[in-house]
Amino acid sequence: MKDYKLNNGVLIPCVGFGTWQTPDGETAVKAVECALADGYRHIDTAAVYGNEVSVGRGIAQSGVPRCEIFLTSKVWNTERGYDRTLKAFDKTACDLGVDYLDLYLIHWPASASQFDNWKDINRDTWRAMEHLYREGKIRAIGVSNFMPHHLDALIEHAEVIPAVNQIEYHPGQMQPETVAYCQARGIQIEAWSPLGTGRMLTNPTLQEIASHYGKSVAQLCIRWCLQHDVLPLPKSVTPSRIKENLEVFDFTISDADMARIDAMEYCGGSGLHPDKIDF
Ligand code: A2P
Repeated sequence: MKDYKLNNGVLIPCVGFGTWQTPDGETAVKAVECALADGYRHIDTAAVYGNEVSVGRGIAQSGVPRCEIFLTSKVWNTERGYDRTLKAFDKTACDLGVDYLDLYLIHWPASASQFDNWKDINRDTWRAMEHLYREGKIRAIGVSNFMPHHLDALIEHAEVIPAVNQIEYHPGQMQPETVAYCQARGIQIEAWSPLGTGRMLTNPTLQEIASHYGKSVAQLCIRWCLQHDVLPLPKSVTPSRIKENLEVFDFTISDADMARIDAMEYCGGSGLHPDKIDF
């Protein structure tokens, strides 16, 4: 599988395996094992998904060496700040059964709607991430769900520029300002819910375009991300779909079809806005 190169030179496989909403226990163990057997080498999880122990077991049982797997997790909103973030990292590493992470992200920015001192909170969290990075416990550090104003405030005092911003990204929800901001600064965009958490799959426009290529809508959405230099993280617990979602390197979406998908209006998404969340 092709890699993207992060702004610190670290290589990251261009499709990752998402585990949001994957139930803890055997389901997550089997899904991760299945993904690794199919050739995924990039697994994305988070403390708040509640499945890190099972994801770690899936990795261990797969037989794929740790060094061949790109593993991401995220610090949850209740653990923001310098000391808490350091502790949260230790727990995540312990739960996953690993001694380093390839990528660690701030899951959501602290925002003005919840905190007067939101900038300080994000900076303190980031200082802990920088510390872990310098200590070699994380190969790259980044953020998730940050908009340009959150990034501006963070970067103003940062020693390390984030390598990644993981955002909700699928047809009808392209977050163009955030993507342009990050791409201009070498911050890799990752797409959570590249299938709109499944909502895209029944969209008539996408169904029509996908059928031209003899591909599924899921494959079309994943390929569309890649052609925008965005890194998709499709989630599935179904073996046939896990495999299908990697079969995206044998076709190219034409410029005209890319433009048609880009022009799609909002047709459903999580509805979560980083400045309005209440969790
Ligand atoms: P399941 O996990 O039951 O297989 P997203 O990655 O945007 O969050 O979307 C995940 C949702 O899409 C899940 O409900 C998942 O179902 C479903 N899904 C993932 N891949 C496919 C696929 N290739 N075909 C149909 N549904 C899929």
